[in-house]
Amino acid sequence: MPRIIIDNIPVEVPDGTNLLEAARSIGITIPHFCWHPALGKAGACRACAVMMLEGPVKGIQMSCMLPAQEGMVVSTGDPEAVALRHSVIEWLMINHPHDCPVCDEGGECQLQDFTIAGGHSIRRYDGLKRTHVNQYLGEQIEHEMNRCIQCYRCVRFYQEYAGGTDFGVTGRAGSVYFGRQQDGQLESPFSGNLVDICPTGVFTDKTARFRARYWDYDMAPSICPGCSLGCNTVPMARYRELLKTTARRNDAVNGWFICDRGRFSKAAVNSPDRPRLALVDGEAVSMDVALDCLRERLAGFLELDGPEGLAIVGSPRMSQEAAVMAARLREITGAGTLCFFAEAEQSAATAAAVALLTRDNAASQEDVRRSDLIAVMECDLLSDAPMMALAVRQAWRNGARVYVSGRSGVEVLPFEFETVRALTDIPFSSATNPVLICGADRKGIDSIRSTSLEGVKLALVLNGPNAFGTALLAGGQEAVSFSEALADGRIKGIITLEADLPSELPPEIRVLAVADWLPTRLIAATEIFLPVTSWVEMDGTYINHEGRAQRFTKVMHPGLPIKGLSPELHPPRIHRHDAPGGDILPTGEIVLQLLERLGSERTDLTGCGDTWKFLTLLEAESNGFLIYERNNGP
Ligand code: FES
Repeated sequence: MPRIIIDNIPVEVPDGTNLLEAARSIGITIPHFCWHPALGKAGACRACAVMMLEGPVKGIQMSCMLPAQEGMVVSTGDPEAVALRHSVIEWLMINHPHDCPVCDEGGECQLQDFTIAGGHSIRRYDGLKRTHVNQYLGEQIEHEMNRCIQCYRCVRFYQEYAGGTDFGVTGRAGSVYFGRQQDGQLESPFSGNLVDICPTGVFTDKTARFRARYWDYDMAPSICPGCSLGCNTVPMARYRELLKTTARRNDAVNGWFICDRGRFSKAAVNSPDRPRLALVDGEAVSMDVALDCLRERLAGFLELDGPEGLAIVGSPRMSQEAAVMAARLREITGAGTLCFFAEAEQSAATAAAVALLTRDNAASQEDVRRSDLIAVMECDLLSDAPMMALAVRQAWRNGARVYVSGRSGVEVLPFEFETVRALTDIPFSSATNPVLICGADRKGIDSIRSTSLEGVKLALVLNGPNAFGTALLAGGQEAVSFSEALADGRIKGIITLEADLPSELPPEIRVLAVADWLPTRLIAATEIFLPVTSWVEMDGTYINHEGRAQRFTKVMHPGLPIKGLSPELHPPRIHRHDAPGGDILPTGEIVLQLLERLGSERTDLTGCGDTWKFLTLLEAESNGFLIYERNNGP
């Protein structure tokens, strides 16, 4: 732990920390473009110059390239270092467009920030700017090569970090070009990270282009619902339209990046087909009327058919708060059936997977990145949990051995591996930090249970953003899968909450109510439809594959996006506080209001026993909280 002094502030940093990071740790930002915490140093931009006053190295040095050593005394404000950094910015700006006020990267541009912070404002060079021809890189990423400052972050991420082969750098000296051999869709499933990682605006999110300035966005910390990994994100919206999503750093989970599926999956939230009106027998009504009507029909059903015939059906895509409320609805109504999973196979495999995990053996993405031996079994990583494939690649780059067996989409995995037939063929005992990645698949889970895996951490990829949480609840509440309940023949009526069920149900089953934000086919069969908020329109918690409870927060108000409003709805002729299509509630709140109508006292999670109280204390901008420690509180 070398002790150094930066701008008269003593600081002790871990071995291997460079001076730029050491300065950041005490709140001093040194300009930088090519260095990135996830990619390390490149020494390409020369923007991070500092003056070394004492210690083993003297004079001007690039702070990203120099590891802290005992006794170093560093000045970031030394006039010579400041002058050099000023010159570097001026050189970079010789060819960079001077168009910040109209540039679509304005406000989220590192070059803009450091140019202004460094005081560069007058262009002295009167030669022509070097220009490039842009490429078509697909429907998601816009290419604007004239903004490039040759920091090499993009190619280092794309090729080295993510293993992409269709994008690179060509040219030499003062004319290098970052792109593909020819126009075409970027092939890497992580290509969207170019948008986040580029310190200028060479790569921008085409799907949100010219829709808003950075400071116009509604944004908040959130969690991706695309799979069970729980990658941290910042969705950005404007005028009730989800415009784009960026990665949010969480070193224990996704690090700095997210996959393209998580980044660009926004169509369902903004879709004009999204059901936004409460319906009773197909007629649009207010939410209050729909809930009153549901209370009446539910009371009639309970009287006529008895609670035994009622099924409350949730799913792993609902928040944990909503799932707890679903269980409470079952308790208050006395419903005979509670389901969180559609199929028996999925339900059993998820329950078995969750039962296998403990505080000590559950592997995070960071555990995978740090592992020296990884086995992937019965899991198509790039389809089921793309970021896990990126984590495996980082371990492989650091020398980890990788073994793959079973259903694993092997032809496109971004790392080299050895194929094995069975778990027993993998030399776990020869590794220090072995990790086994397995899908929530009965065959895989059974073989884990029947094999001695002492010291092996488990990353079990589940189905759905809150599969872990709903499986825990299902176990405690004796829930069954919907297919098992159907086979049992007891169900006479169902209330579904964000559930994906077959649209064809036996004709004797009444679909009393459906609460959802997706246009599922069950809506056509329901008596009462209750539109609910998507994850970006509410606060909630998902528990990811390793048992990490993570909070997501409300990004935007619900309602029809202004873009696309029909002339009769926009502009509104009557002053109203709510937005058209905004009379919707989170699923948990809908259940709560129904329970109140049924005579139950209004209560949040704190009133549903002690088990889930800790969720109310979770903060979004944290590393989340491992469920195994819930008795100690976050
Ligand atoms: Fe140090 Fe680029 S950040 S040379």
